[in-house]
Amino acid sequence: MDLKNYIASIENYPKEGIVFRDISPLMADGEAYRAATQAIVEYAKEKEVDMVVGPEARGFIVGCPVAYEMSIGFAPVRKPGKLPRETIEVSYEKEYGMDTLTIHKDAIKPGQRVLITDDLLATGGTIAATIKLVEELGGIVVGCAFLIELTDLHGRDNIKDYDIKVLMEY
Ligand code: PRP
Ligand code: HPA
Repeated sequence: MDLKNYIASIENYPKEGIVFRDISPLMADGEAYRAATQAIVEYAKEKEVDMVVGPEARGFIVGCPVAYEMSIGFAPVRKPGKLPRETIEVSYEKEYGMDTLTIHKDAIKPGQRVLITDDLLATGGTIAATIKLVEELGGIVVGCAFLIELTDLHGRDNIKDYDIKVLMEY
């Protein structure tokens, strides 16, 4: 199955000159969503993952079905003020200004083998911040899985020391 058939490309969204890659047609098709999930599950099994972590919001869409299929846990990484218990946070640079991500302090047990999931790797800022959070809690990031990599943005350069699985490149 060619998963690219299920990605919509929207020109000039959210800004002039940007081509936005939209995963919602893939999510809307049960077979395509399952095929994408299964490809990441196979990768996660190879890496002997025992916990999945994903940044809001689209990291949940990719990561939760993987965790469910493997009968392992999923921990959400969220914007500040969204998680109700004690958190740690990491700030990182975005295109314009700074952003912050948080995770519950007890989300990961030291030594757990963690897979980080997101829909898309762009500049790599989000994934690098998520890796920092997991490692601060003592987790071992054994892999990062994305549906899409925007190769021109060289996000990979931010996470050179980590193994990456990507299903589609643009
Ligand atoms: C998008 C996307 C990734 C991130 C990739 O999320 O879902 O998480 O940007 O960009 P980066 O590699 O340059 O960090 P967004 O911040 O739009 O949040 P959302 O999923 O809540 O819409
Ligand atoms: N699509 C979806 N999310 C994104 C994109 C994109 O093209 N670029 C940065 N975040």
